[in-house]
Amino acid sequence: MTLDVNTNSLISPSITCTSHVNCSGGAPTKLGILASGSGSNFEAVAQAIKNGQLNAQIQVLIYNNKNAYAAVRAANWDIPAVLLDHRDYKSRSDLDAEIARTLQKYNVEWVVMAGWMRIVTQVLIDAYTDKIINIHPSLLPSFKGAHAIEQALASGVKIAGCTVHIVRLEVDNGPILMQAAVPILPNDTTDTLHKRIQIEEHRILPAAISLAIVRAG
Ligand code: GRF
Repeated sequence: MTLDVNTNSLISPSITCTSHVNCSGGAPTKLGILASGSGSNFEAVAQAIKNGQLNAQIQVLIYNNKNAYAAVRAANWDIPAVLLDHRDYKSRSDLDAEIARTLQKYNVEWVVMAGWMRIVTQVLIDAYTDKIINIHPSLLPSFKGAHAIEQALASGVKIAGCTVHIVRLEVDNGPILMQAAVPILPNDTTDTLHKRIQIEEHRILPAAISLAIVRAG
């Protein structure tokens, strides 16, 4: 690991396309992305595919908030976007059943939760066993849940970061694919720290997707 003085991030040895069989040919893996908000991680995945760093194609974006900027990004990339508003469903399982149906309709093989702020049920996990990936803004297993960055700042730790992992039923739990560390600076706020964490998220999410696909064979 080295310290990148421009971003104040600890960087692991560079992850290149050639280190991932996923880039060496074969049909692109069909991804479905779930996002609730800004969609900068969705954008990072789309950009990595365009740059040839990830052999995949995004079949569909599913979003649950009608004003999610992720939907605008999907339109800019000409990627179908489907709004499934959790408020329209009686239970989490009902929403997940509709998500699974939509993903299957678009022939999705792997699911990426890129800022998906909903708790996943067994219904979705069973539909895509070991093929759902999540990104979380902490070094798991520390600071699970929706306020990871605030918790890291309040705890006094000096190193924050992000984790990409395979999704299990328990929130922010499951086999870790990749992590990046981000030092906490003396005057950091939630916003400043989140911005630096996101730089790392955008770097490791596409690489971790590639790694997961390769590992699954
Ligand atoms: C990311 O920081 C992710 O770790 C967290 O939600 C945020 C989503 O950001 N789960 P964006 O919508 O991808 O910009």
